[in-house]
Amino acid sequence: MIITIDGTASSGKSTITKQLSKVLKMPMLTTGSIYRAITLKVLNNKIDYTDDNKLKEMLKNTKLRSQYSGDGTIIYLDDQICEKDQLGSPIVSNTTPLIACKPFVREFVRKIQRETAKNSKDIIVEGRDIGTVVFPNADFKFFIDASLEERAKRRMKEYQKNNPNITLKEVIKDLDKRDKEDEHRDISPLVKAVDAILIDTTAIAAEEAVEMMIKYIKK
Ligand code: C5P
Repeated sequence: MIITIDGTASSGKSTITKQLSKVLKMPMLTTGSIYRAITLKVLNNKIDYTDDNKLKEMLKNTKLRSQYSGDGTIIYLDDQICEKDQLGSPIVSNTTPLIACKPFVREFVRKIQRETAKNSKDIIVEGRDIGTVVFPNADFKFFIDASLEERAKRRMKEYQKNNPNITLKEVIKDLDKRDKEDEHRDISPLVKAVDAILIDTTAIAAEEAVEMMIKYIKK
């Protein structure tokens, strides 16, 4: 069984996916981490990502795999575990859409996503284009969203651990820009699949969203 969970940045997708994975005892894959790991390598090696040839060359020499840890997704980049703090940093978050919009990058990631799902009887896959492009025939599809302000407040709590001076206004601006880049790219844009169930988490906790999803699945 494949369950897809797509949605906007900081809508609660990852928390919900983690909880659902525990309740249903199904492995999960957060695909944003794969795009983030590519970005991390680009930034660490100061690769000019606006030059497609340089980026293609880098990908040719990149080993990326994901593993379900029982508590989320672990990404191995060139055989090294990627630290969550590094993958979640503001610079990685803001640069990732500029790299994830390239068709050859998506193709590279799609192979990893499909390979991971092939090796797992059941899986919950979370991202932006999972129900629309990667697994259009998934058994259950969900799309998670929340108001921009609520999402920014949640993201700010995460960022404040490393950057106590960050303001809500800055976080709103970054999130809005990232969503627009993801929504307006030519291929695999962030969009709700027509057959996905929309869950708005503006006023509800992740636990409540998970309960709604389980009810729907059991029905
Ligand atoms: O989900 P997360 O915030 O970790 O995703 C980071 C970025 O990765 C997104 O803003 C988007 O640009 C890209 N992404 C994507 N397709 C996916 C998952 C993530 O383009 N399936």
